Amino acid sequence: MIKITINGQVKEFDVDPSTPLLWVIREQAALTGTKFGCGMAQCGACTIHLDGKPIRSCVTPLQAAADKEITTIEGIIPEGEELHPIQAAWIEEQVPQCGYCQSGQIMSAVALLKENPAPTDEDIDKAMSGNICRCGTYGRIRKGIKRAAGMMADASTPNSENNG
Ligand code: FES
Ligand code: FES
Repeated sequence: MIKITINGQVKEFDVDPSTPLLWVIREQAALTGTKFGCGMAQCGACTIHLDGKPIRSCVTPLQAAADKEITTIEGIIPEGEELHPIQAAWIEEQVPQCGYCQSGQIMSAVALLKENPAPTDEDIDKAMSGNICRCGTYGRIRKGIKRAAGMMADASTPNSENNG
């Protein structure tokens, strides 16, 4: 049995410890928001967070997550909210086209804004370079990240009306 925490819930899995996390997440935990693209750490469709850092779940064995926390696209919404600001920005900027890569894109973007709340175009291109989009939505992804950064900055700024 290998115990891991997925989206805040402790779960035990009785599978070969070398099984890729992606398989465990989709088939054992039935969390299908994380996608299978290349299976070779080339496309980023399978991006999740392991202890807060983005990883490629298609090439990460279950045992690497033993007693650690993983977060999938299903687990990113802050408590009491309906959407993560990245998801709200994605809707406002109409980022997705076919949508296949977007769960992985969002997971990379969430990790980026956690590390760097006001990324430049260059920061965004660097952080997102491992996420491939066949539909070429890169320009809208960049806009979405900037919009989300603005929304998150506004949310963390005290309301000036309450200060005066
Ligand atoms: S499916 Fe994991 S990087 Fe492509
Ligand atoms: S939106 Fe289609 S692959 Fe990215």
